[in-house]
Amino acid sequence: DRKIKIAPSILAADFANFGAECEAIEAQGADWVHVDVMDGHFVPNITFGPATCAAIRPHIKGVMDVHLMIAPVDPYIEAFAKAGADVITAHAEAGPHTHRTLQAIRAAGAKAGLALNPGTPASEVEYYLDMVDLICVMTVNPGFGGQKFIHSQIDKVKQLRAMIGDRPIHIEIDGGVDPVTAPLVAQAGADVLVAGSAVFKGGSVSNPTPYGDNIRTIRAAAEG
Ligand code: DX5
Ligand code: ZN
Repeated sequence: DRKIKIAPSILAADFANFGAECEAIEAQGADWVHVDVMDGHFVPNITFGPATCAAIRPHIKGVMDVHLMIAPVDPYIEAFAKAGADVITAHAEAGPHTHRTLQAIRAAGAKAGLALNPGTPASEVEYYLDMVDLICVMTVNPGFGGQKFIHSQIDKVKQLRAMIGDRPIHIEIDGGVDPVTAPLVAQAGADVLVAGSAVFKGGSVSNPTPYGDNIRTIRAAAEG
């Protein structure tokens, strides 16, 4: 039935080697590349912006999945679309005008994603179901890689899957995905699994085989 996509988060990659890291994870079986943008305001960490996304873009053959953990979002949508983002995901908590933000993402030519923090209920998406291509369920509090998976979110995934019905909307899971938690969210209805530390651990650009082993292990666990 639903095919699982593995989206390694380059938050766990070597920041001095993003191009080579993206090529390595794709060669090792990644479906999408997940790019975490943090502003030190919406979340307590800073990564990089549209210029870095544009520099990474030629090194990704498949989907560049840009997760914006920034507020405000709207002034930067055009820049991330121009940088080549295929999916642009904004947070429901980033401001009072999520509806406008989602309209702007599609108007800029990207697929629109809506991310929900762990404390935000599934009902938040009710009036956005015709405006989103992806719903991202945060299974950690956004800001850092390597945090512990929050199990209460599994029920949210089930609720979202029921709300979505037969609409073509991806459910993405972000945070603490590993071979133990992947099957839990896949069974609950998720189809895109972001994984940072669990994909990059043990490998490097000069020794990328562990990336492939890690991706295969997570995929096999999710597909059960
Ligand atoms: C967290 C980021 C995640 C993060 C996941 O704020 O949005 O994408 O990289 O990292 P892991 O898989 O290590 O929890
Ligand atoms: Zn993310």
